Amino acid sequence: MSTPDVDVDVNQNQNQNKNVKAEDILCPLAEYEECDFSKLLEKPRLLNIDRQRSLDERSLSELSIGISPRHATRAIDPNSSRFFEQLDSICSPVGRRSGFSTPRSQIGFDPHPMVAEAWEALRRSLVYFRGQPVGTIAALDNTEENLNYDQVFVRDFVPSALAFLMNGEPEIVKNFILKTLRLQSWEKKIDRFQLGEGVMPASFKVLHDPVRNNETLIADFGESAIGRVAPVDSGFWWIILLRAYTKSTGDTSLAELPECQKGMRLILSLCLSEGFDTFPTLLCADGCCMIDRRMGVYGYPIEIQALFFMALRCALLLLKQDDEGKEFIERIVKRLHALSYHMRSYFWLDLKQLNDIYRFKTEEYSHTAVNKFNVMPDSLPEWVFNFMPVYGGYFIGNVSPARMDFRWFCLGNCIAILSSLATPEQSTAIMDLIESRWEELVGEMPLKVCYPAMETHEWRIITGCDPKNTRWSYHNGGSWPVLLWLLTAACVKTGRPQIARRAIEIAEARLLKDHWPEYYDGKLGRYIGKQSRKAQTWSIAGYLVAKMMLEDPSHLGMIAIEEDKQMKPILRRSYSWTL
Ligand code: GLC
Repeated sequence: MSTPDVDVDVNQNQNQNKNVKAEDILCPLAEYEECDFSKLLEKPRLLNIDRQRSLDERSLSELSIGISPRHATRAIDPNSSRFFEQLDSICSPVGRRSGFSTPRSQIGFDPHPMVAEAWEALRRSLVYFRGQPVGTIAALDNTEENLNYDQVFVRDFVPSALAFLMNGEPEIVKNFILKTLRLQSWEKKIDRFQLGEGVMPASFKVLHDPVRNNETLIADFGESAIGRVAPVDSGFWWIILLRAYTKSTGDTSLAELPECQKGMRLILSLCLSEGFDTFPTLLCADGCCMIDRRMGVYGYPIEIQALFFMALRCALLLLKQDDEGKEFIERIVKRLHALSYHMRSYFWLDLKQLNDIYRFKTEEYSHTAVNKFNVMPDSLPEWVFNFMPVYGGYFIGNVSPARMDFRWFCLGNCIAILSSLATPEQSTAIMDLIESRWEELVGEMPLKVCYPAMETHEWRIITGCDPKNTRWSYHNGGSWPVLLWLLTAACVKTGRPQIARRAIEIAEARLLKDHWPEYYDGKLGRYIGKQSRKAQTWSIAGYLVAKMMLEDPSHLGMIAIEEDKQMKPILRRSYSWTL
């Protein structure tokens, strides 16, 4: 079954463009506005295996033929014909695979010796609750202080979950989804303040009581975390994981459970509630995502907005169209429409957009304002002029009144590609930028969490003199091997597997030898991080996921969503690389 083509109301579009002339000048991508998510309401919901498979078949086969000639010459390497055949042979439920505990190569690659070691290490990190595996510990490093690295973090478990799903072991993922769902229903308080019902924990831990011979769970919703910030990303990852599980196993019964439907609705009501917002993006506190301490990642950080978009799209596939679900579906569709327009227009930076901002007038008033957020051209940092390649672009870190954070963030940009928040052209541009800024972003260890680092005065003000986040360390421009899986998935989706292959090779030269560090330091990522944990589970799992995805690109389906037909831009203008 194919998705009904959507008629685009060109007239309406033109009229709107007339009305928003000024916006058009501000953002060359303003025409992307017309992603008509409302049409999605007319589609049957996708909690139906046949329906879901056919959608995937469509999207992945489109992907394989949708590679532009430009890529055909640049991106394809000797393995590519197989690679694209793989994309065409669609992700069918992996549960049917045999040899669950013996990961094997699907298309005849010789497994790297590190792969077996990684699997062993990943299995050592398993956490059991009353006899069942429910997650993986953040790090199995006894040489450093534990802090909370002995817990199961929701975000850290994602690459572990994907590795297990890809290896045909969905049980642990199901257990994790159900356990965290139970934790969500706990009453959560910080001092005397009660958190929203839908908040998912950052992490949890199994407590053994040897006297009573009993096990209990304790969870952290931010009330114990350094800085006391609730993790906004946990709920989004939970929804994304539920979709990955459903997609990879074909088992819709988990997502259909009334508890799971309710869990999703609770998460969604936290982020879709009406308030004083003038933007469709989600307002956040510093430290509410992977970068979980003060780093100037507050306001409307790309790291959260991209996950928000992805989670909304996954929820749309998973929510039942019953009385309770319908209302949410409508709200999601509206929000997606506004969010994609806002992000694609105002967060997008390429050479042309940079030049436009450089020439911005300020203090404009009323609807005709070009510089809507009153950004001062003087606030453009020096580095961004050198960093911006002729071909390429990226979603910047943050946009709010008079403030643009021009830093490049890895997770947000990769998730933007995977969720199709980025248009195909933007996705290509993001990959182009990674290629042209290889030394800065990949260097000697993939991959920078953000670029560039903050130093001296700026570091003092923005991080509050955080000694863990000194320049080119940890969250401040450190290199995180876990990000390899996100890069690889983005490479596969954009048809540029050779980029991932290069990055994986670089990681393979050191990761095992260095005992799977959590992060590396330095401009090139040459040094094991100052306070980096060893045996960091998501470094291990991230590597495995990257390897498996390259070997069998059909795995991409569980973590990527194709651009919806309605999201295709109506008019195409020349983009940065045609300048
Ligand atoms: C650090 C990271 C965070 C991660 C946690 C456990 O706090 O900043 O993203 O979830 O360690 O590994």
